[in-house]
Order: sequence, then structure tokens, then C-alpha cells
Amino acid sequence: MSIRLGIIGSGGIGQVHAQAASDAGHAAKVLCDLDADRAAEAAKPWRAEAMTDVDAMLARDDLDAIVVALPNCLHAPMACRALAAGKNVLLEKPMAMSVSECEDVISARDAAARLLQVGFVCRFAATVQAARRFIEAGRLGRIYHVRAAMYRRRGIPGLGRWFTTREQSGGGVMIDLGPHLVDLALHLVDRPEVVSANAVATSIFGSPVYEYRFTNMWAGPPNPEGTFDVEDGASVMLRCADGLTVSLEMAWASHLPDGTLPDGVTLFGEKGAMHFDIWGDHLVIGTEMDGELVDVKHTIPEGEGWGTAFRRQHENFAANCSSGTAPAATAEHGRSVQAVLEAMYASVAAGTTVTVGEAVGA
Ligand SMILES: NC(=O)c1ccc[n+]([C@@H]2O[C@H](COP(=O)([O-])OP(=O)(O)OC[C@H]3O[C@@H](n4cnc5c(N)ncnc54)[C@H](O)[C@@H]3O)[C@@H](O)[C@H]2O)c1
Repeated sequence: MSIRLGIIGSGGIGQVHAQAASDAGHAAKVLCDLDADRAAEAAKPWRAEAMTDVDAMLARDDLDAIVVALPNCLHAPMACRALAAGKNVLLEKPMAMSVSECEDVISARDAAARLLQVGFVCRFAATVQAARRFIEAGRLGRIYHVRAAMYRRRGIPGLGRWFTTREQSGGGVMIDLGPHLVDLALHLVDRPEVVSANAVATSIFGSPVYEYRFTNMWAGPPNPEGTFDVEDGASVMLRCADGLTVSLEMAWASHLPDGTLPDGVTLFGEKGAMHFDIWGDHLVIGTEMDGELVDVKHTIPEGEGWGTAFRRQHENFAANCSSGTAPAATAEHGRSVQAVLEAMYASVAAGTTVTVGEAVGA
């Protein structure tokens, strides 16, 4: 399956997409960025064209699909522009800054009759796909609780830059890692309606700026003069209409050594419980068989681990574009995740449990 691809945004994840698209057999033809040097540098390995003019890029008729890999505040507006220009769009998470922006994207998709896939890349992790198979086979029975967590020791992206400036990002770790966690939790249990959210958030590590000597910083070096007006840690409890509860924990930074708390998903079911590290190479299931407690370890085949998730996402996007098949990671899923995120922020502000503003699970 081949598509003629352009990537808008040649920063950290734009470059990951360029590699993944090449691995999937449809290397990007154009990489675009406001920063001409960055676009040129990112385009070089793929012998792609570098551009700085988004309008000129979208007007080209030799591109039929676009990856939007821009700061969060530009996701919905750029997706709408690309759809209106007749392109299929792979839109990075979060889908938008608000549910109302998600509605704009859905309207633009419908008006253009093009495809909009949300970049919920964790669904393409081999661990997640194996987990889905075990759940669908009924190995856990009815699942009554899901716990999902992403903890970093030193992982504030672009401290003092757009990621930590609410006006451009929409928030901190909850809108950055939250979309992955919320989508994954719902994806694994067939997307029940989330009725309420209770969230607490902390903002500890932005001021004073902590030492970055011990890590490479994603999305640019720290800017001590810059803005940090977002949360960097959160704990969340979601309640679903079918009785399922979901607890989420996330931190951009903590002093905890990496790996102490795995970036994992744990599912508790009536017949079994399962745990896996999203970036890991195996899953463990605890169950009971013939009156015995049984532990099962499922190992992901070598070479199919997390490193291949972005490539698989691109293979899937290309196949959807070529066949006109609606993507599994729909704009409606993006909107339902956004509704949960909005409720999480509203809960932090109110200091109490908040009802999710729409039926989640469309
Ligand atoms: N799926 C994932 O696991 C994952 C991982 C990292 C980031 N992301 C998402 O990807 C998006 C981008 O993140 P990033 O880490 O690459 O950020 P980044 O800051 O590294 O890159 C953003 C790029 O956009 C460019 N840009 C800004 N405004 C522009 C405009 N109007 N036109 C053209 N280019 C413009 C910037 O110059 C920069 O190069 C974010 O929304 C983030 O949430 C997703």
C-alpha cells in the first residue's frame, strides 16, 4: 500500500513519523516546518523536499495524505485545513484542545469526505494487541478494574517551551500522556461510557527548573525564562456506566528510578488478572486452572516490540487511505477521550468529582 505523504511539523515526533513512514514503505515526499533548518535536516535522510509554507504544501496535488505533528493548539485548525484541501490526515494526539475543536474536525472530515485517523499509537504496541486477543478470548472474564500508569524520572518535554505553556498545549501531563492512557484503558475494554472523573494534579518540577544534566530533553532544551503553568503529575479515577473503574497515574517527572513503577496496564477480571509494560516484551496473566493458581507469561516475538508500533501505525494508515476504510482510531474516539480529559481538568479545578459532558464510547 503506498500513499504520497507529507508531514507538517519536523520536530521530535515529526521525525519519528518520517522514519516510520519509510519503514512502512511510503517515505514522506515533503517535510514542512516553520523552522527551515529543522525541515531541511529532517527531510535529508529521506531525500524529501523541505518546505516552510503550509498553504503551498496543502495546495500540492502530488500529496494525498498528511501527518499533523504540531504543538497541540494547532492540531484541530491544521487538521481542518488539510481535510479541506482534500488530504487524508493522521493527526497526532491529543486530537485537539477541547471537545468543541474535536467537533470542528469531525465536521471538516465529513464535509471533505476524507479520512481522519487519530495518532493513538499505543494501540499498535504488540503488548496491547496481544492483551486484546487474550481479553477477547475471555481469559480474564468480566473486567472490573483497569489501572494504567506512565511515570518518568526526568521527562518534562520542552520545559519552558510550548509543552509547558497552557495556552499552546492545553495543559501538562494530563493532556500529554493522558490521551494514551485514557484511550488504551477504554480500547482494551470495548469503550464503555465514562460517566465521571475525579482527578488531582500537582505542579512540582517546573519551578525551580530541575537539572537536566541527567537526560536528553524531548522537544528542545530547557528554557529557564519560559513559561511553566501546567501540571506535571496526576492521579485520576474514572467511573464507567457498566460499573468498571479505571485508575490512571502519570508523571512527567519524579525522583523515582526509571522502571520502579512500570509504564504499565493492569486489568483485573473475574477469571484472571493481566499486567504488561506498554513498552515491554511480555505480558503476565494470573488465573486459576483445575483448582491451581497458574501464572502465564506471554513473550512478544523478538523484533516485534514497541520499536515497531509507529511503523505499524503507518502501515495501517496507508492501508486505510488506499482502501477508503474508516480507521479504528476514529475522530469519535478522539472526541470521547477529549471529553474525559476535559472532565479531568474540570475535576482538578473544582476539587471534586465531575460528570463527563457527553456519552463516551461513540
Ligand atoms: N504519539 C506519541 O507518542 C507522541 C510523542 C511525542 C509527541 N507527540 C505529539 O506530537 C505533537 C508534536 O510534538 P513534538 O514533540 O514533535 O514537538 P516539537 O516541539 O518537537 O515539534 C513541533 C514542531 O512544529 C513546528 N511548528 C510549530 N508551528 C508550526 C506551524 N505553524 N507550521 C509548521 N510547523 C510548525 C515547530 O517548529 C517544531 O519543529 C504534540 O502534539 C505531541 O503531543 C506524540
